Amino acid sequence: MSEQIDNLLHEVRRFPPSAEFVANAVAQPEIYAEAKADRLAFWATQARELLHWHKPFTRTLDWSEAPVAKWFDDGELNVAYNCLDRHVLAGNGDRVALYWEGEPGDTATFTYAELTAEVKRAANVLIKHGIESGDRVAIYMPMIPEAVIAMLAIARVGAVHSVVFGGFSADSLRSRIDDAQAKIVVTADGGWRKGKVFPLKPTVDAALAADPTGTGAPSTVEHVLVVKRGDNDVTWKAGRDLWWHEELASVDAEHVALGFPAEHPLFILYTSGTTGRPKGILHTSGGYLTQSAFTHKNVFDLHPESDVYWCTADVGWITGHTYVVYAPLANGATQLLFEGTPDSPHPGRWWELIEKYKVTILYTAPTAIRSFMKLGRQIPEKFDLSSIRVLGSVGEPINPEAWIWYHDVIGGGKAPILDTWWQTETGAIMVAALPGISTLKPGSAQVPIPGIDLEIIDEHGVIQPHNSGGLLVIAEPWPSMLRGIWGDPERFKETYWEKFGAKYFAGDGARYDHDGDVWLLGRVDDVMNVSGHRLSTAEIESSLVSNQMVAESAVVGAADETTGQSVVAFVILKSSHIGDMSEADAVALLRKHVSDQIGAIARPSRIYIVAELPKTRSGKIMRRLLQDVAEGREIGDTQTLTDTTVLQTISAQVRGD
Ligand code: PRX
Repeated sequence: MSEQIDNLLHEVRRFPPSAEFVANAVAQPEIYAEAKADRLAFWATQARELLHWHKPFTRTLDWSEAPVAKWFDDGELNVAYNCLDRHVLAGNGDRVALYWEGEPGDTATFTYAELTAEVKRAANVLIKHGIESGDRVAIYMPMIPEAVIAMLAIARVGAVHSVVFGGFSADSLRSRIDDAQAKIVVTADGGWRKGKVFPLKPTVDAALAADPTGTGAPSTVEHVLVVKRGDNDVTWKAGRDLWWHEELASVDAEHVALGFPAEHPLFILYTSGTTGRPKGILHTSGGYLTQSAFTHKNVFDLHPESDVYWCTADVGWITGHTYVVYAPLANGATQLLFEGTPDSPHPGRWWELIEKYKVTILYTAPTAIRSFMKLGRQIPEKFDLSSIRVLGSVGEPINPEAWIWYHDVIGGGKAPILDTWWQTETGAIMVAALPGISTLKPGSAQVPIPGIDLEIIDEHGVIQPHNSGGLLVIAEPWPSMLRGIWGDPERFKETYWEKFGAKYFAGDGARYDHDGDVWLLGRVDDVMNVSGHRLSTAEIESSLVSNQMVAESAVVGAADETTGQSVVAFVILKSSHIGDMSEADAVALLRKHVSDQIGAIARPSRIYIVAELPKTRSGKIMRRLLQDVAEGREIGDTQTLTDTTVLQTISAQVRGD
């Protein structure tokens, strides 16, 4: 690892902005000095300039109840109004908000006026079924316009959405519904994926029929709103289930958006932590929308009247929330929304879409770029990608090789690449260069955005000098920061604020290079990053041990060329089950078990059935050493182990000796 980092830090290629880019750039160099001179005044200006306030705010930040920040808290706004009505009122109702392309190639276009009309009706449907300000509504949907419409409609009436990624299992969905006590679930019959319909409604049915507490208590869900998309057969529970299209047709077309306080909750999004239970990250309205809109406009150099923007993330993740739904629409951008996968029905599908819609800004993840690299440049080279002028990257560090390929092959050697570091918790981009100002450095996320106070410190809180590494913290509150973990204020404090007091601990390692630019080095806790998705080792371990065959398990993230990390599990079977079936069958069964319990993204790529796990004298499993084994590396310090032969046996097994 450290050798790799040293190599990275010796990356010498530099990419200054072109004169043409500088001449038309949204962000001007003064922006850094302006933010530095008065950080709070800077954010207050952004909030006033970028958003419409039903009631103007007079207070910028109240940190008196730290670590729960209040931004612009005596102001009122309506998030959906900011994303919709105000653009129509400003005369941009005919501008395309969404170009949507379904996986089978069907399409739809929504102008800002049309999207506003749909959201108004959907808001009236929610009201008709008793949704009030502050109520929670779950969303479990494919990437179709109705997912965006549902999110905005929920926001419009002051309710709180909890979007659950459509790849999660019934169990995962149910635990999220229960945690947030959702009253309605919005779903679809099914969505399209790789040439087939994948059913969603049956998973919702299973989630709601389950009895997780064993008490027979029903879920809090009163209605399931179902969008017709896959045309697959669905079973229907009369009274509970409602067709989206019938409901929308049954309500009034007009809905007046009311202002809600800036700190009114906007959404909960569950993400993996170091323990088994996912955390419901809570975001609120005014600060979140301010930083989302600001970063989207400045990092991607957005010119809303001419750009066609495409962020490839699913709305089930934070990137989809901020950079598919809220930021682009708040900024009045035209964007592409795509239901399918990059390689179906052919491996040039993304490039075909860029050519077709003349996409100018593309925001995606390094894992996708690396898979395209593997397939070869001849595939994108068949398409006209000359419209591309800005490229973004998110989810994990982008290695210089992938950076250069992205720059040359997709960006035609001219489009700047913005590597953006942030998290579900930060709500919006925190570290990224600004095109038109920065000279880019492949592999480095470079600098905090204006108005963000980032530090790299050591275990004792000492700020690190150039050319050294440590832990990434955010030293001052920022507008789009999480306001807590839903229903668990203690866990919020323990997870992020216990280690360094008033500084937010992000869980990432980072390093300054000799210029003081920031390089991200991955998680320092038991959180894995597989294809840019966050997974918890503890959550997968507890899923494995919930299988009756399993006595004990240890899960690690092992480096993977394409996906960044992959899930590797070491499992001890209960003696009563050894010999029940072949090892290969046991492995297959356990992989399926994890996939059924959590979702396919958590399915281990490798499972080793072992006799013992390496433990310290106090009984702690040494995952770090198992990671060395899984990555085929020299094994680290084994001094604290009770029995070093355990590790030798596992190593031989992994090597296939
Ligand atoms: O480890 C960092 C990594 O992804 C984590 C956050 O994951 P999640 O909350 O799912 O949000 C992902 C999309 C914002 C971080 O703690 N990460 C994210 N972006 C980068 C990154 N690591 C390095 N470079 C990045 N650009």
